[in-house]
Formats: sequence, C-alpha cells, structure tokens
Amino acid sequence: MSRHDPVEPFHAISISRLARQLEAEGRDVIHMEFGQPSTGAPAAAIARAQAVLASDPGSYWESDALKARIARLYQDRHGLELNPERIILSCGASPALVMALTSAFRPGEVIAMARPGYVAYRNNVLALGMVPLEIACGPESRYQLTAAHLAALDPAPAGVIIASPANPTGTVISTDELAAIAAVCAERGIRIVSDEIYHGLSFVGPVASALEFAPDALVVNSFSKYFSMVGWRLGWLVAPDDLLGSARARMGNLFLTAPSLSQHAGLVAMDCVDELEAHVARYARNRQLMLDALPALGLTRIAPPDGAFYVWADVRHLTDDVMDFARQLLIDTGVATAPGIDFDPVEGRHFLRFSFAVDTPLVADAIARMTPWFQARP
Ligand SMILES: Cc1ncc(COP(=O)(O)O)c(C=O)c1O
Repeated sequence: MSRHDPVEPFHAISISRLARQLEAEGRDVIHMEFGQPSTGAPAAAIARAQAVLASDPGSYWESDALKARIARLYQDRHGLELNPERIILSCGASPALVMALTSAFRPGEVIAMARPGYVAYRNNVLALGMVPLEIACGPESRYQLTAAHLAALDPAPAGVIIASPANPTGTVISTDELAAIAAVCAERGIRIVSDEIYHGLSFVGPVASALEFAPDALVVNSFSKYFSMVGWRLGWLVAPDDLLGSARARMGNLFLTAPSLSQHAGLVAMDCVDELEAHVARYARNRQLMLDALPALGLTRIAPPDGAFYVWADVRHLTDDVMDFARQLLIDTGVATAPGIDFDPVEGRHFLRFSFAVDTPLVADAIARMTPWFQARP
C-alpha cells in the first residue's frame, strides 16, 4: 500500500535536469536556478586543504580553533560575546536546521514560517512530524514575517523560523522589526530558529543577528554562501544553553561530525576577507544589472533584493503555470531559473526566482537573451 509522502520534491532540480540535458545536446545554458556561488573556496583555503590531505588521514573531529573563530565572527559582526562551546559544527546549514528543529520541538508542535520561504523549512518540519504554519507574506511586509503577524496567531505556535536575508526574496528584516519579533516571541513563549546563512551578503548595510535580541534563539549558518564553499558541506548551529545537550546528542547520533578536511579549510577561509568581499562586490554589480534590466522585461513587481543573490519576480501577467513557463524560458533562451512553487505552494505559480550568483558577463548575457523573449510575450 502506498503512503502519502508530505515531503515535496525540489522542483528547481527538474529544471536543472532539463538544463543538463540541453547542455549534453550542445546548448549553452546560463544557470540561474540554484542559489550557489559559481566561485570555489578561497585560494588559501584550498591550499590548506591540499596540505592537510597530504598529511592527515581525517577523523571524527570538531575543531576548537574553528569554533573559536566563528565565535569571533559574532564579536566582529554583532558585538556579541559568544561561548564557542555553544557552536556545534555541522555538515552545512541543512543538518543544522534539522538539529535545531528536533532539539527545540516535538512532533505535533506548530512551527510558523513566512510564505514564500526556503523550501526545506516546510519540508523538514513535515518530515519531523511537526506542523508547518505558513503565513502569507506579501510586498507590504517585504515578504517577511513581522512582530504583528506573530502577535496575531492564536494559539501561539511553539516556534518560528525566520531568515534575513531570505531565500527566495533576498529581503532583510530591519533591526527594529527583529527586536520587535524577539519581544513578541519572548512574551508568547515562541522559540526562534533564525537561518542566517545569507549574512555577509547584504547590499543595504549590516544585518542584525537574532542573537542580539533573543539570546535563547537557535541560529543556523553555513560556509555555503558568503564563504563560497557550498560543496565542502560545512556549517554550524548556535544553540542556547538549555538546548545545547539535546542539540549535541542529535549531531552525534544523526550526523557524527562535519568533514574534517572542510573544517581545516573553513578556518583559513574565514580570514580570506579580500577574496570574499570581491565576491560580494560582484554580486552587487550583478544585482544592479538585473535591477536596471528588469523593467524592459516587463518585470516591475519584484521583492527588494536587500541581500543574498536573488530576484523574486512576479510573473502573474505572463503565466499561471510557472513550472511550464520556466521550462519554456530555458528551452527558448538557455536561461535556467527556479519556479516559485518551490518556495510558495499557494502563490508561487506566479513567481520566478533568478539567482545572480554567477559571473557578471553571464548575467549580462542572460539579460540579452531574456529581453526579446519576455518582450515577445503577449
Ligand atoms: C535559506 C537557506 N537555508 C539553508 C540552505 C542550505 O544550505 P547548506 O548548503 O549550508 O546546507 C540554503 C541553501 O540554499 C538556503 O537558501
């Protein structure tokens, strides 16, 4: 007997599969479907990994030096004194999110989140037997949850997942709003899980950490985005004291440790500021190219891309079936994009997400290919 599986597939993967098929047929495809840097790890991090490979067999291991260095990141970015022992290294933000959810919540508990939002929030919550409460967030709140949304929920959910900058929109929660969210959550006993994976990638100045206002929040982060080390599978969870033991027990049982080679490389990467900031400068140029070009494509209803490397564009005047639309766009122009249905099961059929984490000439090329295609749409 088949069992209904509530966990949906990632639809961008089928666009990517079609893109690979077209490439195998000799087509030239520009990949804007996945949110991943097209660059590799910083050069010094790669050199360190090569040296470690030659001398170290690798082991189950958690680098104290890396935890201390990550703690310093919170001091440098947010002026926060963080005990490095509260940092649990993980194989990317994805396992850190699983750890955060299973240590803080029990099956059946309700977890609020913004819709649109990163596809894995809803699916992880469902996979863990918890109940996602998706709150429709539109342009009026920059597609983000607000303190007012959380104050209005009756009964209060057990938890909330926030992300700033967010995927798929790139929008940032202002510092004041974050403080207000933390205050409502403290008052109503709602535990915050804050996904801060896009920290460091902001075009609107510093972005606050939830830890500045909610010391008992669980914070997820990763080397995949700012540090350009997506394939190294390295990230971390900052756990509050009351959940630290539970989170460590889950890390040990579910995932053991983060890759030792990546921990060595990650420690070096954190000091490669010039190289990493050059990526941010490139994303800023790419973002500007997109913002300048979108009106000519007729895409004027977009989320303000404050950070990350995404444009979340409303294409409802062109389609009701964004999956088919993205497929056609790819076949006709060779530009791969992510259909909005991954991020919003209700309204997503009207949205397309462009990732501009590619080389600047490729962004220009994608715009040149897409402009006549969009202009030819009725
Ligand atoms: C918002 C968000 N959180 C988490 C992840 C997962 O990242 P990681 O590669 O660190 O597992 C992603 C990946 O795109 C993401 O966009």
